Amino acid sequence: MSATAGDGIPRIGENEARNLLVELGASLFARGFSVGSAGNISVRLNDGYLITPTNAALGRLSLARLSRLDAEFRPIAGDPPSKEVFMHRAFYQARAEAGAVVHLHSTMATAVSCLADVDPVNPIPPLTPYFVMRIGRTLPIVPYYRPGDPAMEPAITAAARGARAVLLANHGPVVSARDLTAAVQAAEELEEAARLFLLLRTAAPRSLTLAQVEDLLATFG
Ligand code: 13P
Repeated sequence: MSATAGDGIPRIGENEARNLLVELGASLFARGFSVGSAGNISVRLNDGYLITPTNAALGRLSLARLSRLDAEFRPIAGDPPSKEVFMHRAFYQARAEAGAVVHLHSTMATAVSCLADVDPVNPIPPLTPYFVMRIGRTLPIVPYYRPGDPAMEPAITAAARGARAVLLANHGPVVSARDLTAAVQAAEELEEAARLFLLLRTAAPRSLTLAQVEDLLATFG
């Protein structure tokens, strides 16, 4: 069941969002996109947000214990929220269309975030269409901050104004999309693009041309 928030974008109901968040968290964890208690996920509701609790394993989330935030990102129910609430807030405030945000420490994307010799605006070339379709034109690297350091927020806000996803240097990817399923798919696609990039680093791959990238973005948004 979806409803329309004040911004005109349809959002799924809270129960549906809770179920989907737990299901997709378990799926990401089972496939190794997250280990231990790494990563956090949020979803925008009509009147606030759901976010994973701090120190929670994505593979064992509890429906009832998900952190519920009001529209100003204040916790109102559930377990204490992820210490990276401000990182999620930066995306929602910078990108009106964002309906969900996924942060992972997935291995390949995190490996790219540790490379010193990549383009800080476009570290991964447009090797495949789905990377362009899910992530877009650019994937800026946000300089290193300690996890949970709120000083990171202005840097993420600035980067997110021009990008659906960023790489936190020496930390991992943060991906936004219109809804939770799309955000998880984009995070998965980013991980595979990072894997391809690392596989091909010593080769001489053919990237998509600028015209091919523009055609994909014009066709698929
Ligand atoms: P939280 O457990 O507070 O969400 O932090 C996990 C994480 O991935 C930090 O980057």
